[in-house]
Amino acid sequence: MASDPQSELPEAHPTQTDGVHAAMEAVYNWNYDSEIDQLRTLYANALERQWIGLRDLDWEQEIDRAAFSRSFSIGGVPIQETDFWKSLPEDTRWEIARGTATFMLSNFLHGEQGALMVAAQLVNAVPHMDGKFYASTQTLDEARHVEVFAAYIRKLGEVQPIAPGLKKLLDDVLATDDWKKKAVGMQVVTEGLALYSFRDMRNASEEPLLRQLLTRVSQDEARHTGYGIKYLNQVVPTLSDEEKAEIEDFAFETARLLIDSRSGLALRQTALKLWESAGVDPAEALGVLVKERETLRAAVEKRGGRWGPVRGFVIPTLRSIGLFSPRIEAAFQEVFDHNFQGAMGKLSEELPELPEDLEAWVMEETN
Ligand SMILES: [Fe+2]
Ligand SMILES: [Fe+2]
Repeated sequence: MASDPQSELPEAHPTQTDGVHAAMEAVYNWNYDSEIDQLRTLYANALERQWIGLRDLDWEQEIDRAAFSRSFSIGGVPIQETDFWKSLPEDTRWEIARGTATFMLSNFLHGEQGALMVAAQLVNAVPHMDGKFYASTQTLDEARHVEVFAAYIRKLGEVQPIAPGLKKLLDDVLATDDWKKKAVGMQVVTEGLALYSFRDMRNASEEPLLRQLLTRVSQDEARHTGYGIKYLNQVVPTLSDEEKAEIEDFAFETARLLIDSRSGLALRQTALKLWESAGVDPAEALGVLVKERETLRAAVEKRGGRWGPVRGFVIPTLRSIGLFSPRIEAAFQEVFDHNFQGAMGKLSEELPELPEDLEAWVMEETN
């Protein structure tokens, strides 16, 4: 096993390129004064908080493989608390946990590449100089994230292809020519998904290097989500009803395809293939949502009431920036009802608040 983070990716995954046509307007702004002070402050903060991936993480340490195999986290649903999970043979549980962790890490890596490209697009596409300055720091942050996830995965010696749902999300965000859709698709949906999932895996994992890496990366992602919230908070109130509805639809659709089995691209559909190859019937695994609904609800409640990244984080963010009209709420409710058979309850009754201080929330060790 190569321990040098500079060594090549495994040979089974040779260099491949892939393209998506991405048209957009590149916007100059001849006013160099600050127009949105909060974004200028965030930019200054980002400059102060830069770190160097290959220097500031302890790459000398070997991956603790046993601890890595227990880094089990499945999109915020604490299935490990159920009788079903406890009834599986230990070998099977380990195989699923390890496979899921590898699947997620690979998608973190590929997602970071998408974020790198979109952040660079935002430098061109956003109209305010403060927004351009900030997006330039995010571009560098995302390059560092690609670098450190790739280095970790090299040590692990295993990388899986991008999940089709994540690829479609990134393609759509890269391809849209509307900077506001790009901002909501990247800074709210994708960043929210990333921040939630990185924190969740950090809290689930006992592998020291992975915990260190995910903590550093999540601190950057908290800033990226903050950019989306601060920027869109300024912009959304200036939009016409039609424009707002269009942005809402885009946000809904990008999030929906990751959780709705009817899209054929839901992340759990890809992840459940791992269960199948470990000898567990995916239908039985999904059935736990209904069969052990009360156990799961209690476990989610104990962990702060967040049912995964979309419901637990992305939707509260959309609501906080005024992109969660009754029309969109009903559309999301229908998706949850269809996919989770009522296990998650009504959005109008139990949608968690967005954490007030994202950086402090990142550092919290509870799920
Ligand atoms: Fe990132
Ligand atoms: Fe990010």
